[in-house]
Amino acid sequence: MDSAELIKANSVGIVETNIARLPLPPEGFVLANGRSLPELEVAFETYGTPAPDKSNVVFICHALSGDAHVAGYHSPTDPKPGWWDEMVGPGKGIDTTRLYVVCANNLGGCMGTTGPSTIDPRTGKPYGAQFPDITIGDIVRVQLLLLQHLGFEHVHAVIGGSMGGMQVLEWSIRYPERVANCVCIASAASLSAQALSFDIVGRNAILNDPNWQGGNYYGTGRSPDLGLAQARMIGHITYLSPEIMTRKFGREKNEEMAVATRFNTLFQVESYLNYQGRKFVNRFDANSYLHISHAMDTYDLAEEHGSLERAFAGVRSRFLVIALSADWLFPPEQSLEIATALLHCGKQVSYCLLQAPYGHDAFLVDIRHLAEVVDTFLVSGLPDNAPAPAKPAPPAADEFLIATLVKPGARVLDLGCGDGRLLARLKQERAVTRALGIDIDLAHIAQALAKGLDVFQCDIDLGLDMIPDRTYDYVILSQTLQVVRKPRLVLQEMMRVATSGIVIIPNFAHWLNRVSLGFAGRMPKSPALPYEWYETPNIHLATIKDFVALCEAEGVAIEEMIGIPESWTGAALVKLGLPNLGADRVLFKVTRRPAPRAASETLPPGKTPHE
Ligand code: COA
Repeated sequence: MDSAELIKANSVGIVETNIARLPLPPEGFVLANGRSLPELEVAFETYGTPAPDKSNVVFICHALSGDAHVAGYHSPTDPKPGWWDEMVGPGKGIDTTRLYVVCANNLGGCMGTTGPSTIDPRTGKPYGAQFPDITIGDIVRVQLLLLQHLGFEHVHAVIGGSMGGMQVLEWSIRYPERVANCVCIASAASLSAQALSFDIVGRNAILNDPNWQGGNYYGTGRSPDLGLAQARMIGHITYLSPEIMTRKFGREKNEEMAVATRFNTLFQVESYLNYQGRKFVNRFDANSYLHISHAMDTYDLAEEHGSLERAFAGVRSRFLVIALSADWLFPPEQSLEIATALLHCGKQVSYCLLQAPYGHDAFLVDIRHLAEVVDTFLVSGLPDNAPAPAKPAPPAADEFLIATLVKPGARVLDLGCGDGRLLARLKQERAVTRALGIDIDLAHIAQALAKGLDVFQCDIDLGLDMIPDRTYDYVILSQTLQVVRKPRLVLQEMMRVATSGIVIIPNFAHWLNRVSLGFAGRMPKSPALPYEWYETPNIHLATIKDFVALCEAEGVAIEEMIGIPESWTGAALVKLGLPNLGADRVLFKVTRRPAPRAASETLPPGKTPHE
């Protein structure tokens, strides 16, 4: 295909890797450990067109063994595109028709950026063992220097998966004023002991390869290929989930395969790992692997800053943290930990957990949902894509009521936020200062992200551990209490995280429901309860009296109760003071009941509680 055909096929087309020689002060590029590099070259690629005001720059941080070649082809005969071609291109998750994308090969790498195999100008020989240790911070500082060299002082977004996600975190902490948005995918603020173990074994395989020669193997005709291949094989195992390993290979054998030694096997998985190891040796340098994996392993935000909350204290970027369900190398808990810490610091953060059976590499391979959420997040944050201005949609009665109850400038949490319409409305009409939506459904998360909202994808039945006590003025639970499995827990959590709660539930005691059940003997269906019994999500139906009793039992005070009738008859019954008969739905404004005074304070003098 030529370039024109490629572009038609949603590719960025034929691209080239450029090398920038970065201007440095006389002392060179001083690393975190105090040593310096006298020269710095960086390999990079760019796609798309910068906006006249430079507001659409997206920097992609690559993972451990990636490079600057993210998308497109290097020549018309190139058999494979860049490593994230599925994600980056016209109309893709990172849409190059709107965004200007830059990616650079990391410091310490072997794909054009200064690394151990580069010639040290002071000796005229490759650095080899003399290449200094680097950190994730050093890698990110080089990225900023490159962007400045290209004429960009700020970026619309920094995005990265795995070790790339660590660089994203570092960007947000180091350069808070330069990054508007951060997307951190399948990453962690530090590696787990298990993840460290695989890297340690991999590095040992290189270090113990006699051809490594203390790191000075360049030009000797011998290089630690065996050790590097083994390191890659070990790494590769961690990139796939057990499920995908079984699906790809099971215990399948290749009977035609020659078995090299007595203990080699015919298993396809051995052939696959051998192949991946060999392929890696052909494109990667063992010293680069040692340095970059070491930088990743020693990254520990909590250790460096005292805690994650301290690390994130100065962050200004809006964050999207994405976890992958079957990732056991950077498990979802680690992404949630990042998102939670940001939330605790009062930062703008959204979190979602993508169902991705492939495992850690899903962010490279299985990008359907990833592309959707990333695109929505990035585009909703573009300056020319601010949420549509005031368009007072005909208010649903419930939304209108809620909006009237929320004080201007309040902090609002919406549990079961759906597409985020209510929160968007509150932001617009009540100028809420802090708004967060929580929903279990990824489609809702994407819709809410598109409205520029912060949203967390999680199951409120599991509690709201990620939200500290009394962070919000209002927590809204509109038409959600009846669908959760643990209404009592949800009510308790609401009262823990907010001062007031606004709850709307369908009223099961509505007179039509009574007629349906009492006379027709059928489960009721109504505007408030529109489902057949066999497909209803409403598993905990209650009446007004039931909810009042629950509040009583839980120490929750009802400040206001508004019956919402849908018919004239219902309205008349509500007016007559019979809301439990007339209201289709009911809104409760609730608050924590003040803790009862100690018994000794309330009892008459001289009486004990048992008398
Ligand atoms: N024996 C030998 N080779 C086999 C094989 C077998 N039984 N089964 C598959 N292969 C080869 C295929 O021929 C193919 O070769 P090619 O890449 O030269 O075309 C390759 O293995 C396919 O690999 P696979 O892993 O099955 O592809 P995928 O589409 O599932 O994943 C990549 C693609 C690029 C993500 C993956 O190959 C890879 O390189 N993963 C590592 C990426 C990485 O560094 N992740 C770390 C992030 S920190």
